[in-house]
Amino acid sequence: MLTTLKAIFSLLSAKFRKKKSKPLSIITPKPAHVAVIMDGNGRWANSQGLSRVAGHKRGVEAVKNLIKGCLHHEISYLTIFAFSSENWNRPETEVNALMDLLMGALENQTSKLDENGIKLRLIGDLSRFDSRIQRLAAESMTATQNNSSLTLNVAINYGGRWDLLQATKSIVGKIRSGELQEADLNEDTISAELSTAGQPDPDFFIRTSGEYRISNFMLWQAAYSEFYFTDVLWPDFDESAFTGALMKFTNRDRRFGNAVDKVDEKSA
Ligand code: IPE
Ligand code: IPE
Ligand code: MG
Repeated sequence: MLTTLKAIFSLLSAKFRKKKSKPLSIITPKPAHVAVIMDGNGRWANSQGLSRVAGHKRGVEAVKNLIKGCLHHEISYLTIFAFSSENWNRPETEVNALMDLLMGALENQTSKLDENGIKLRLIGDLSRFDSRIQRLAAESMTATQNNSSLTLNVAINYGGRWDLLQATKSIVGKIRSGELQEADLNEDTISAELSTAGQPDPDFFIRTSGEYRISNFMLWQAAYSEFYFTDVLWPDFDESAFTGALMKFTNRDRRFGNAVDKVDEKSA
């Protein structure tokens, strides 16, 4: 009996030792929610003499590095812009290739996400996708719904204006049915109807490829995000580029409208 207890105790303490020896993230303060516009796949590919589709394939590898980085730095929420509501304007061959990549990722990566404790959410107007993608999306979300190390929102057929519009429609419906009273509406009511309901707003917003616009991404949620723009093209955005971006976040002075007088009244 005593030997069994001793064995259990040593197993348990080995487990805790292992946990403790995990390298701690050097990032402090770190963002709770990182949003990323992963831009520049096409330019990266063309600059190497490759097709745009080859760039999107390399882009998927960069996503894997970003997820690893978030796990390493213990970031709780990550939202990546994978396909915008405006990206349907692209040539059909490119759109089809992006759909294939998406389907492949849902089919092949869900178990990997699950093993790493990642909760997958697909946000956007999924009704425009073919039924196979919709089914895979629902299955992947259900399979990972109880995970808690990182919530990964993948925005597909997503637009910030769409998100606000669908939230508005839902609120109007609830007012009509009497579930909500107009007098009780406030900013939290809107946040609670967006596709990121229940999650903190992104405090850090990254866009690669040297473009300085938000291209209809998270319009409401980014109200107080810290922005980080880099010329690095998405396929080249590796773990060290991500750590470098996070280091910049640590130096931001987040004032939220407040002001601090740095000169003492008496000495001025
Ligand atoms: C971002 O890369 C990926 C998607 C929009 C799907 P782009 O395809 O926009 O690459 P560039 O901006 O043309 O280089
Ligand atoms: C934004 O990139 C959308 C995604 C990264 C999915 P785009 O390349 O589509 O944005 P614009 O057209 O340059 O604004
Ligand atoms: Mg682009």
